[in-house]
Amino acid sequence: MSVAKSVMVTGGAGYIGAHCCKALFEAGFNPVCYDNFSTGHREFVKWGPLVEGNVRDRDRVTSALREHNPIAVIHFAAFSLVGESMSDPQKYYQNNVVGTLMLLQAMREARCSNLVFSSTGAVYGNADDKPIRETDAGVPINPYGHSKWMVEQILRDYRAAYGLKSFSLRYFNACGADASGLIGEMREPETHLIPRAMMALQGHAADFAIFGSDYPTADGTAVRDYIHVTDLAAAHILALKRLLSGDVGGSFNLGTGNGYSVREILSAINAGVGRPVPVLKKDRRPGDPAILVADPTAAFETLMFRPKCSDLATIVRTAWGWHQKAHPMKAPEARAQERLSSLADS
Ligand SMILES: NC(=O)c1ccc[n+]([C@@H]2O[C@H](COP(=O)([O-])OP(=O)(O)OC[C@H]3O[C@@H](n4cnc5c(N)ncnc54)[C@H](O)[C@@H]3O)[C@@H](O)[C@H]2O)c1
Repeated sequence: MSVAKSVMVTGGAGYIGAHCCKALFEAGFNPVCYDNFSTGHREFVKWGPLVEGNVRDRDRVTSALREHNPIAVIHFAAFSLVGESMSDPQKYYQNNVVGTLMLLQAMREARCSNLVFSSTGAVYGNADDKPIRETDAGVPINPYGHSKWMVEQILRDYRAAYGLKSFSLRYFNACGADASGLIGEMREPETHLIPRAMMALQGHAADFAIFGSDYPTADGTAVRDYIHVTDLAAAHILALKRLLSGDVGGSFNLGTGNGYSVREILSAINAGVGRPVPVLKKDRRPGDPAILVADPTAAFETLMFRPKCSDLATIVRTAWGWHQKAHPMKAPEARAQERLSSLADS
């Protein structure tokens, strides 16, 4: 009987990490979740062993790598709130950059030389209105984007100097949930559009707002490229297999190439759920560019990546299925009262 090969997944108890652990398990790997539960959830660790620890704790990572002997690490562990990164950049550079340096040192000590890294479309900053290619300049406009861009440069140097092979996958807007309804998006505070809109529908976010209606876009709201988390997880398996077959790595956009405005997303939610989302209008948030849409051609051609679940109807259906389990509906009276108080405050 063959024993499943282990892959260490830092941040495996988080939203995207947990979906990736499930995909790894289904692809015949043993996902070893390494997480400190700073934003992750114990109940999301279902598909392999757990090591509880901080990626900044190099000794702990090294001993976990020696114990489980993974063929690769998939590195999701990071903080990822753009607004918070603007008000507290140290928190982001410490966790995202120093944390990754500690992980890389541990990998070298344990002689693990394959890494898939969670990067982001935020490395491109204020792109113009055409789909962004990997060859476009990295000019992040917030500390979160900078932290990911710095790690990409570090990985490029480690690849050249130490033979540590790595793919940096630049996700655009992750969304949706596993079709089982077992895992999905759940963070505190929740800042992402689709979960916030669904929480508003359920009576859990009376202050749900569109941030900025004066962007230079067709309907004035910000445009993003939404990619289903199940598709993201599948792309990680493709990148992992490519590293294992000898590719030294590089950077890929993970998106669909289609941009949707905030208003288009809200219309899709209205259509999928059958009720309009109650909305307030607020000013733009600092650090939010008008348009971010990927040119995913490189991932399509090299990784043979094909998004299968990233149409808006599937995104809405799976996210709503998860939200109904994760956040049971509030009583209509409480919901009405919260909405009244928030209107009075705004
Ligand atoms: N969600 C998106 O739309 C999106 C887009 C682009 C990139 N990303 C990147 O994808 C990755 C995962 O994002 P997510 O949305 O699943 O976030 P998440 O907050 O749900 O998951 C992050 C996980 O990492 C863990 N973690 C954080 N710091 C840690 C540390 N020092 N040691 C150990 N564990 C630690 C958290 O507990 C959590 O389980 C992040 O690197 C993020 O920057 C996310």
